[in-house]
Amino acid sequence: MRALLGCIFLLAFPALNADEPKAQPPAPPQSPPAQPPAPPQSPPAQPPPPAPANTLKPADRVEATPKGQLKNPYTDDNAAIVEAGHKLYMRYGCNGCHGGNGGGGICPPLINDAWVYGGDDDTLFRLVTLGSDVLQSKGYSRIAQENVVAPMPPMGLIVATDDELWRILAFVRSNFHGAPENKFGQPPEAVSPNR
Ligand code: HEC
Repeated sequence: MRALLGCIFLLAFPALNADEPKAQPPAPPQSPPAQPPAPPQSPPAQPPPPAPANTLKPADRVEATPKGQLKNPYTDDNAAIVEAGHKLYMRYGCNGCHGGNGGGGICPPLINDAWVYGGDDDTLFRLVTLGSDVLQSKGYSRIAQENVVAPMPPMGLIVATDDELWRILAFVRSNFHGAPENKFGQPPEAVSPNR
């Protein structure tokens, strides 16, 4: 009996190996000591601007904040913030529609006097976060005409944090080319009764 089992054992294995080369145990991972030690992960090339105080998703920030109270903590004369905002603007593909500096392209420019729903921080943050359709469902309407009329997609779950969106908007403001008094839009009472 024992001899028979041994025989089956010996016969079975070469057969298995021949038919199913994939069944062979994988070569043990060679850890070549010649490899240099892994560099520390993603060292930031330049020191990033100060740690964000606000780290909610823009969509959650909009939910949590009463209308009219969203305010950019950054100003567009802060070069480091503007540069960081520009990178984020490119990373999130805003440039694909609005052009690399917000001058417009297939979609409205972000740098001229006309602010479609208003140019204040609160409105811009909500528009980019919610997109045109949801913004309109909340009672906003187009109060200025741009060269292109199309919906802005909701970016509030794509842009990682409200801090990032404020940086992006600081960058957008830094490119404003219109009349200074229109940089933040016109006072709501001057534009539309139904806001
Ligand atoms: C698919 C194209 C597209 C992408 C991507 C896009 N937008 Fe827009 N955006 C639009 C359109 C179209 C409008 C005009 C909305 C309307 O008329 O309802 C708009 C409007 C705006 C406005 C208001 C402009 C004004 O004159 O009032 C801002 C600010 C803005 N987008 C910022 C951004 C930012 C920031 C990003 C990236 C996070 C972005 N957009 C990504 C298409 C896009």
